Amino acid sequence: MTESLLFTPTTLGDIKLANRVVMAPMTRSRSPGNVPGTLVAEYYAQRASAGLIVTEGTSPSANGVGYAWIPGLYSPAQVEGWRAVAQAVHAKGGRIVGQIMHTGRIGHPDNMDGAEVVGPSAITAKGEMFTPGGMKPLPVPRALTEAEIEALIADFAQAARNAVEAGLDGVEVHAANGYLPNQFLAPNANQRTDHWGGSIENRARFVLAVLDATIAAIGPGRVGIRVSPGNPFNDIADPDLEATYTYLFKEFGKRDFAFLHLFGTQPGFDVPALAAKLSGKKLILNGGYDRARAEADLAAGRGEAIAFGVPFIANPDLPERLRRNSELAKPDTATFYGGDAKGYTDYAPLAA
Ligand SMILES: Cc1cc2nc3c(=O)[nH]c(=O)nc-3n(C[C@H](O)[C@H](O)[C@H](O)COP(=O)(O)O)c2cc1C
Repeated sequence: MTESLLFTPTTLGDIKLANRVVMAPMTRSRSPGNVPGTLVAEYYAQRASAGLIVTEGTSPSANGVGYAWIPGLYSPAQVEGWRAVAQAVHAKGGRIVGQIMHTGRIGHPDNMDGAEVVGPSAITAKGEMFTPGGMKPLPVPRALTEAEIEALIADFAQAARNAVEAGLDGVEVHAANGYLPNQFLAPNANQRTDHWGGSIENRARFVLAVLDATIAAIGPGRVGIRVSPGNPFNDIADPDLEATYTYLFKEFGKRDFAFLHLFGTQPGFDVPALAAKLSGKKLILNGGYDRARAEADLAAGRGEAIAFGVPFIANPDLPERLRRNSELAKPDTATFYGGDAKGYTDYAPLAA
């Protein structure tokens, strides 16, 4: 058997990882009032043997918490909540970055303390949204003004500062899966006629402005970004995906930052190969990985680390289980979002 690469250390910018098993960001909706509490700290501490944890999507502003009970990073109480999370993870030797996620048009006012649902354009995404009052149609978002766009970019930068202030090791800008930055990128969600929409250059402007502002706020060594070319989730469509991402990856290549996190489906071109070639960045690869595929992609030099999502839910000590090649526990999908400790912090580690 070839030597395992998953359990060798690496660095992403300023962040030192003890192994290459990354915990993928996962919204678990257990932060009432948008403030992560002690249960959230316990959950992440249980998973601190990951080389790096990327937290669940965390909003930079009150109009970005589109889902029920998701956390933010814009109030003092939220910063204190994350401080306890960072301390709990660090006490167990782990590393953790905060994923900064603005939900944009994927939100419902009932989940947002009445805040307005906004987006690049007044185009409703297909689908429904869970609210404490049941499933509701997604509302028509109000198109952001240019001044509001500038303010949101500053909010991302402030959230990154808040993350560092809370003791997190850095941030991941969430430009994937159909949330606000991805909405700007996608021509079906962004039909603006100012310099934030239209050409690829204009549609990519928000993603790059957020990235630049975040890097300026906390330094390049603590910033990563996540994209998901070809993922139609949240009603995203782009007829010329390869052109959009070719431009974006080239622009990433002009900037200094710590990592590029790819959630890949199969859009008809080799996303990791194109991303590596054009951006020159260290890649975290994600999406349906098991140990064998992870080892194969690392051995082939396709990525620097592998992120596991669902497997971390029911296997808090996933790196050890992968190391031992033990069978993985199956998660209860009914407790993915919302609720309490059940299906969250009650999955047992392997017996020693
Ligand atoms: C319950 C759940 C919540 C998720 N929340 C987020 C999120 O907040 N941010 C994000 O970028 N991806 C999110 N994802 C996607 C995961 O990060 C990951 O891309 C996906 O689960 C595929 O990886 P896997 O096959 O290893 O599970 C979520 C996935 C699940 C299952």
